[in-house]
Amino acid sequence: MIQASEYGKIFNDRLNKGAFLNTSNGQKANTMTVSWGSLGIMWGAPTVTIMVRQTRYSKENLNAVKAFTLSVPMDDSYKDALALCGSKSGRDTDKFAAAGITLQAPKTGIVPVIGGGPFLQLECSVVYERKMDLACLNPDEREKWYGDTEHTFYIGKINAVYTV
Ligand SMILES: Cc1cc2nc3c(=O)[nH]c(=O)nc-3n(C[C@H](O)[C@H](O)[C@H](O)COP(=O)(O)O)c2cc1C
Repeated sequence: MIQASEYGKIFNDRLNKGAFLNTSNGQKANTMTVSWGSLGIMWGAPTVTIMVRQTRYSKENLNAVKAFTLSVPMDDSYKDALALCGSKSGRDTDKFAAAGITLQAPKTGIVPVIGGGPFLQLECSVVYERKMDLACLNPDEREKWYGDTEHTFYIGKINAVYTV
């Protein structure tokens, strides 16, 4: 386990370049690229919040298994893989094969992480989820980011965090 001050720096430095959000339906894993999210402390525990649009195949997995892992690359070597996983859907593509990335068993739970490193790995169970109410969003942001599909916020309690 690494300290919040250390993983917070890596997370905040790297997230906007893209991270792998890994999910599972219990049988099969999927991954998609995310670049928005935040760390915090909620309900007395370290948490990470991510945002997933309604249309994502990953959302179906999150509906089935209330857990996710985040593999945050610590260098730029996954640029192409992140581009692929952020443009193809797990509905019709095996993104692991297509992007040349592999899965690794998690330390907790059932959702794997991406292997091969160097990654900051966060293993989380969903403690709160809520579809955005676009009426509550500043009109400028609403106009800029939203047509017909809003995000669902997922707050995950961090059960394990480490670098590999
Ligand atoms: C850099 C980048 C960041 C992205 N961030 C998000 C995000 O935070 N939330 C989201 O719902 N989609 C995000 N996407 C889009 C999804 O990764 C993309 O739609 C993906 O194909 C969904 O895969 P799935 O259908 O297998 O779940 C991002 C894409 C890129 C390229």
